[in-house]
Amino acid sequence: MPHSLRITAAAPDPALLDLPWHIPLAEWPANVLAALPRGISRHVVRFVKLSGRVIAVKEIGETVAFKEYELLRDLNRLEIPCVEPVGVISGRTAPDGDILDTVLITKHLQYSLPYRALFSQYLRPDTATRLIDALAVLLVRLHLAGFYWGDVSLSNTLFRRDAGGFAAYLVDAETGDLHEKLTRGQREYDLEIARVNIIGELMDLEAGGVLDESVDTIEIGETIVQRYHELWTELTEAESFESADRWRVAARIERLNDLGFDVGELVIMTGADGTTVQIQPKVVDAGHHTRRLMRLTGLDVQENQARRLLNDLDTYRAQENLQDEDEEFVAHDWLTEVFEPTVRAVPRDLRGKLEPAEIYHEVLEHRWYISQHEHRDVPLPEAVRSYVENVLRHRPDEKAMLEFDTITLRAIDETSEFSAIEDEADEEGDEFDRADIDDRRPPDVFD
Ligand SMILES: Nc1ncnc2c1ncn2[C@@H]1O[C@H](COP(=O)(O)OP(=O)(O)O)[C@@H](O)[C@H]1O
Ligand SMILES: [Mg+2]
Repeated sequence: MPHSLRITAAAPDPALLDLPWHIPLAEWPANVLAALPRGISRHVVRFVKLSGRVIAVKEIGETVAFKEYELLRDLNRLEIPCVEPVGVISGRTAPDGDILDTVLITKHLQYSLPYRALFSQYLRPDTATRLIDALAVLLVRLHLAGFYWGDVSLSNTLFRRDAGGFAAYLVDAETGDLHEKLTRGQREYDLEIARVNIIGELMDLEAGGVLDESVDTIEIGETIVQRYHELWTELTEAESFESADRWRVAARIERLNDLGFDVGELVIMTGADGTTVQIQPKVVDAGHHTRRLMRLTGLDVQENQARRLLNDLDTYRAQENLQDEDEEFVAHDWLTEVFEPTVRAVPRDLRGKLEPAEIYHEVLEHRWYISQHEHRDVPLPEAVRSYVENVLRHRPDEKAMLEFDTITLRAIDETSEFSAIEDEADEEGDEFDRADIDDRRPPDVFD
């Protein structure tokens, strides 16, 4: 009976009541759906338009729906990158009295892409490694927060572009559990699940002919284990040295900052004889560069994007001879005279293709590329024009990509796979020169 419908949400949008909850999700009419790329799932998942936004709706058992809702709320509170829960709708019944599954609603993560969509668009062999790097950071952050995932996989992760690399977000928390602190055994078990799932997922892509032949699936699966351990050690392990080598305290903090982490608490202990010192980070918070850029400019971007923008800000400061000026003032000048005009120079209809910070990053890369090519310093406004015409215009729209079900990827050769998506996204069907992307080597961004 429709009157038994129950909405559990922190701030329920009354427009939720207008959605056809009495119909099984798989049969919802196209006019309420948003056509966006979606990954593989066990349950029925649909993107739905609601009050000018997009929500993700997943049909799932009632107990699990509430459990996942609460976990996602906890993870959001802990500032872990994950999808944001909106609410749970239970008590659904069809007009014939059939009981329908409960749904969990999350906000659609803008500009996010399932890994299969990434492989089908950009077949650079290092895409897989970059995804794994991002997933390793996410897993370490989850484990530091005491979250055991239980089903770590590429399918349960969403990726957003981050200055040429990726930032990973947790999308499926169904199997997870939040603890006070994870044991080594729990962490290792989660990592093993990640390794096995990733290998399986990549083999699946291989079988579908979507994966570059040079990619060694087993090796990439091993990479997650290696990257995870490296990062975990750097973030948590104790380090001992002679007390005369105190510079090593600052060096450790700097290394953590370079990895994108701030040190909230560092324990320093001296040995009984006073000749040795031991340091151990106790609290680390991801987002070092993100926070710094936010403080200086108010821009809220991903970690690598922030690193890139801060580098550009430093370059601006040197070029304009502003070393003696207050950092805040220089940042404001850079924002209003460099960053914003560049983003505004992109025609409005093309701005949905990428996030502004990613567009800016790509413009810088593009400027580097054409400057190399033409043996001259190409000014930024000229680089933007060239980037818009030669690169951006030909990319699929990532804010609102046309319907593209990644499950239906077919084994076709690289170029036709690529242009098939291009044609879908761009009715003009402009030929896109893939060499443009592959040859466009970035300068060393992270130096
Ligand atoms: N909030 C969201 N934003 C963007 N994509 C989402 C969101 N929620 C789900 N998805 C997409 O739906 C897919 C399946 O969701 P998931 O929670 O993993 O379902 P299942 O429990 O059935 O595996 C994800 O891989 C992702 O592509
Ligand atoms: Mg899933």
